Amino acid sequence: MAGTKKTETVKESTKKTAVKKETAKKETGAKKAIKRIGVLTSGGDAPGMNAAIRAVVRTGIAYGMEVVGVRRGFSGLIDEDFVELTSKSVADTIQKGGTFLYTARCPEMLTKEGQDKAAENCRKHGIEGLIVIGGDGSYRGAQSLAARGINVIGVPGTIDLDIACTEYTIGFDTAVNTAMEAIDNIRDTSTSQERCSIIEVMGRHAGFIALWCGIANGAEAVLSTEMYNYEEQKLIGDIQTKRKSGRKHYIIVNAEGIGDSEGMAKRIEYATGMPTTATNLGYMQRGGSPTCKDRVFASAMGAKAVDILHNGGNQRVVAFKHGQFVDYDMEEALAMKKSLDPFLVDMLSKLTRKGEGRILQREGMLPVNTESKGRKTIGILTSGGDAPGMNAAIRAVVRSAIGYNMKVIGFYRGFNGLIEKDYIEMSNSTMSETVQKGGTLLLAADSPEFKTEEGIAKAVETIKELGIDALVVIGATGTMRGGMELIQRGVNVIGIPATVDNDVACTEYTIGYDTAINTAMSAIDKVRDTSASHERCSIIEVAGYRSGHNALWAGIATGAEEILTPEFYDNDQQAIISEIISKKKLGKRLHLIINSEAVGKSGSLAKNIEFATGLETRATILGLIQGGGRPTCQDRVYASAMGGKAVEAINAGSKNRIVAYCNGEFVDFDMEKALRMTKQPDSYLYEMSKKLARS
Ligand code: F6P
Repeated sequence: MAGTKKTETVKESTKKTAVKKETAKKETGAKKAIKRIGVLTSGGDAPGMNAAIRAVVRTGIAYGMEVVGVRRGFSGLIDEDFVELTSKSVADTIQKGGTFLYTARCPEMLTKEGQDKAAENCRKHGIEGLIVIGGDGSYRGAQSLAARGINVIGVPGTIDLDIACTEYTIGFDTAVNTAMEAIDNIRDTSTSQERCSIIEVMGRHAGFIALWCGIANGAEAVLSTEMYNYEEQKLIGDIQTKRKSGRKHYIIVNAEGIGDSEGMAKRIEYATGMPTTATNLGYMQRGGSPTCKDRVFASAMGAKAVDILHNGGNQRVVAFKHGQFVDYDMEEALAMKKSLDPFLVDMLSKLTRKGEGRILQREGMLPVNTESKGRKTIGILTSGGDAPGMNAAIRAVVRSAIGYNMKVIGFYRGFNGLIEKDYIEMSNSTMSETVQKGGTLLLAADSPEFKTEEGIAKAVETIKELGIDALVVIGATGTMRGGMELIQRGVNVIGIPATVDNDVACTEYTIGYDTAINTAMSAIDKVRDTSASHERCSIIEVAGYRSGHNALWAGIATGAEEILTPEFYDNDQQAIISEIISKKKLGKRLHLIINSEAVGKSGSLAKNIEFATGLETRATILGLIQGGGRPTCQDRVYASAMGGKAVEAINAGSKNRIVAYCNGEFVDFDMEKALRMTKQPDSYLYEMSKKLARS
């Protein structure tokens, strides 16, 4: 692939989505290389399945394999409904919802006859390895084939997130965003009409979608099999209490495992007198164009499944665990158990139960958290560039702090607010209706004055004057450096990483990044549509400051031919031009280049390409558009978790920490040490992006 630095110059990232090399060791050995593989999607469809199939096909072809698509899951295997897949046949699929191979639930596969027939057809068509994209039920079908000599690999595909061996399943991210947006809409009308709304979400027996939406939508109650004990009278009592304290609406997210939303609505309306409606979101949650995470992770999992087959693996399930793509023995994976993340469940209760905090506490309706370690005062500010999800973090800080009987003072415009004593005492009601809003209600700004001794001294003076025990600073690396200035002067500072660039070294995730990459991806999808219709080369420049995280993810998610990042691009324009010329000769109509703002010069690159290739070439710079918009579900949930984690650290007496998300967990590091860490975009994903771009 053109325009890339040699691999030996690519440094490893601190967060390595490394493929475990020991993968399927026990199966590796004398086995001959697999030449022909099949792929099918089974059970409920999930957005991102097409991205996984595409990755299977293109990775397989890169290994010299033939790839057969099996239509309608195991039914297609039994009925010999096969289609040969080429690199071209999976073009233009990554952005599409559903599965172009169709899917089905196949009762015949539960019978011996069905299983025999399916295995026989694999042999008849030379399919030596089969990749099954679906859930637990699908893996059981796969195991029956393995027992008949077919190599099988499972890839977790379900919107329910209920596959035990993995923290990620294909489609969940899209489904929670779809549900969350629908609930946002219902909430608007629910507030205007002062209604109680029950929204039923999917998830079969599991409450993952309900939990995430509960946090992301600021629901008053979340009912799922794991969290609800059917005490409807208690729920009714809570609605009545909150109504008394002035609450305008009451949102209940109800998991399908509990169900009966219509009946519940009638009973609540009868008991409380509050108009109550039920909405079942149903199948809308399963459709739609996949999110950026679903496209990137599904691609990585599809590619990994083929790697495993290539290395002689059999009966493995691909998973994402502790920040890495790994794989497990299928039998072991099926025996694993999974529950809701206790930290997120706790966070949910802190954010919902204390909806009216002090009013309820004053009236004796809500106990003050007894674990509270004395009445502390905390300050909070957002600094530097704003990022979607900052409000969710502020809300979580405020509400969990109030739960611990702490006082919270919000400073406007970052460190300027400290210098100018521009602040507000925050209450639970200050934070109402904020979780879904972009930007930051505390405003964010750079502060040239804070770079001077005098400015810093004024800030310290304000902190002392207001008796602030700990200051929460939300922002990027520059903000954390500002925090260090205060730490050096004896202030206790707790950092929360927030930037659309995802370039804070100690954490795999920064608040705002998920929204930014989805905004970029949707914009690029549009550019891609028009470019393909017109035959054009398009260069889209995305945010990232000095890093290429945005470009890499947006590039993978949109199937870009070239991804130019400051870390991996060696400025070889001639190589890009030669590649475009050769692909044009092969009849390729679309050439998509995702450029990072740190590489820049998209306009001149466009001119050079157009001049050298004769192909119309346009540059689009997304600029500030990536910083705005309503935060995605992940940004709301993770920002809330980080806000809660920061308050926990303060309550526990920790000093000078930065909250981070690492290896699937919310953790915290010493601020000074964290600022010495380094980070680069994931080199594994970068290498994969090259394999998946059609040659
Ligand atoms: O497993 C995905 C899922 O959408 C569940 O959330 C839901 O319970 C089920 O599938 C619905 O299944 P079907 O498509 O067979 O109606």
